[in-house]
Amino acid sequence: MNDISNIGILTSGGDSPGMNAAIRAVVRTGIYHGIDIYGVRHGYQGMIDGDIFKMQTTDVSNIIQRGGTILKTARSKEFMTAEGMEKAYKELQKHNITALVLIGGDGTFRGAVDFFERYTIPAVGIPGTIDKDLSGTDFTIGFDTAVNTAMEAIDKIRDTAEAHDRLFIVEVMGRDAGYIALNSGISCGAEDILIPEQVTNMDNVLDKIASDERRKKTVHIIVVAEGEGLSGGRDIGESIRNRFPLLDVRTCVLGHIQRGGSPSYADRVLASRLGYAAVNALRSGVTQVMAGIVNDKVVFTPFSNVIKGVSPMEPDMLDMIRVLST
Ligand code: F6P
Repeated sequence: MNDISNIGILTSGGDSPGMNAAIRAVVRTGIYHGIDIYGVRHGYQGMIDGDIFKMQTTDVSNIIQRGGTILKTARSKEFMTAEGMEKAYKELQKHNITALVLIGGDGTFRGAVDFFERYTIPAVGIPGTIDKDLSGTDFTIGFDTAVNTAMEAIDKIRDTAEAHDRLFIVEVMGRDAGYIALNSGISCGAEDILIPEQVTNMDNVLDKIASDERRKKTVHIIVVAEGEGLSGGRDIGESIRNRFPLLDVRTCVLGHIQRGGSPSYADRVLASRLGYAAVNALRSGVTQVMAGIVNDKVVFTPFSNVIKGVSPMEPDMLDMIRVLST
């Protein structure tokens, strides 16, 4: 059986609301079972720098409701190098860390695959990203909160859009995935939703606006994912202005407000379940996998499969956007 007497825990990549709830669950489950838990600050960079401290149950008091991550996070370029990984491994040995829990998204698990090709150390991952761009889980920690944040913002934008008879292009986060755009857009009754998973045909977007105009629709909300193929909300706005010079067009980039804030109940529960499951997986010898939830059951997927690509978007959802916005 693997030695998991000292578990290191880190958060890496973009923070997401609910990461603190996951840290709390890992620390409390570990200590409950007599395991020492070591917090690594600033993700993989903290591993390289030896920014590591022993955690107590009180370190995670009063954090379940807080956004961000008490362990801080980073996107470490140094960890992508062989030298960086070697330094990180030596620091883990120095602190006698015998296992790891990694909380993060796509970049975190890519880093994990490279690291574990070189060094053997039991590890379990927890999906923490607002983008929901991982295989092996129906939801990622932070996604629900981010969609709710975007939804509330777009509702407010609709109020002012309606008052002025304006068209708004709202850009939401999602570097490679359109899940935030799709779900916030549907929940706000967006007139159009543009996502990376579907090639945008600008003529179709313009024809849709023309048909709305004919029906005297005075408000148009177009939700665009940041990673959508065209060059962002502003260029889309330009094309719209060229064809409809009388339309009053505005663009709003929601940006990092989507990453902050108190996690929703769904994210707190998801994070608690996965943190608890990650420690128990290590205890029972399950390793080099990410814990996820599929059909409300905890499942484990090897790191390399998690990053092989997200499940394709339901074609029905894409069709639904068109039908519901007519
Ligand atoms: O990975 C989550 C995410 O919020 C993406 O949606 C976005 O593209 C990226 O992080 C932004 O990263 P940063 O905070 O480094 O600007």
